[in-house]
Amino acid sequence: MRLEGSRIAILGGKTGLLGQALATAFGRAGALPFPLSSRDCDVLNPLCVEQWLDKNDPDLLVNATGYTQVDQAEDEPEMAFALNGSAPPLLATLAARRSIPFVHYSTDFVFNGGKRTPYTEYDEPGASSVYGISKADGERGLLKLGYDRTLIIRISWLFGPGKSNFVKKIIGLSETHSKLTVVNDQIGSPSYTPDIAANTLKLLELDATGIFHLANTGETSWHGLANMAVSLAGKSCTVSPVPSSGYPTKAGRPPYSVLDLAKFIRTTGTTPRRWEDALKQYVLDDLGFGA
Ligand SMILES: NC(=O)c1ccc[n+]([C@@H]2O[C@H](COP(=O)([O-])OP(=O)(O)OC[C@H]3O[C@@H](n4cnc5c(N)ncnc54)[C@H](OP(=O)(O)O)[C@@H]3O)[C@@H](O)[C@H]2O)c1
Repeated sequence: MRLEGSRIAILGGKTGLLGQALATAFGRAGALPFPLSSRDCDVLNPLCVEQWLDKNDPDLLVNATGYTQVDQAEDEPEMAFALNGSAPPLLATLAARRSIPFVHYSTDFVFNGGKRTPYTEYDEPGASSVYGISKADGERGLLKLGYDRTLIIRISWLFGPGKSNFVKKIIGLSETHSKLTVVNDQIGSPSYTPDIAANTLKLLELDATGIFHLANTGETSWHGLANMAVSLAGKSCTVSPVPSSGYPTKAGRPPYSVLDLAKFIRTTGTTPRRWEDALKQYVLDDLGFGA
């Protein structure tokens, strides 16, 4: 699709970590983004979304909402399944009625982490956490609906401007602690939200549909990510590795959830930059530690 001049509805675009980066990227591309919060448009109330769509007549509907509290989801499965499982196909139905493309985001946490090579779009989801199962439920609902202008993008380990995230929290903690311990036996691909947003636009420009994996390239553990972030911020805090068994959480997380980017690279001709380069931009420029 041609983005310039297009009207883009971004659910989750006002307050969401990814949604805000999407609103910026669409604006830079000359589109007219409409970033929405749950107050503007509650995705659990399809009538309200439909009324908004009727009034504003967008050319594209982007769903960057989600129940994203991985541990809390274990205690609130109904809410997690409503937002992550039931809402996506209802939103896609509204997009289908208007014949506009629909973009939805899913997660590396739909996988169980049993592999030791990057997960492709052809690998079967098999999450054990409520969050992962509910996100896989949303994907399944979309595939079952079969609206042919649906783009599902699985992403992983987000950091970026506009909202609290793992990297920002760790740097904050390093300012008040001389030592931190972070798990080193969960491996994934950290991803910078402005890069995910820019690369989403590349897929849209090509009218891509179906499932795509998208992240920054390279892989590391949460410890590797924390260690580099603290070092880039110039903090003297020591970041030590610890196994997940030493840091029990309510929800289980996949020990390995690196996403294979080959389909995205083949389709767009673009290779996302490495996570270390993106992290440098975030810590030095966005968070201001390079000044
Ligand atoms: N964060 C990650 O590391 C990560 C990794 C992989 C995949 N993902 C996926 O990427 C997507 C975006 O994640 P994120 O981290 O950017 O999310 P986020 O920062 O937690 O933002 C979620 C957004 O959803 C909106 N929302 C929640 N309930 C809503 C409702 N009933 N109606 C309308 N909007 C509602 C919130 O708006 P209000 O503030 O107005 O409630 C908020 O803007 C999600 O699908 C997530 O599963 C995230």
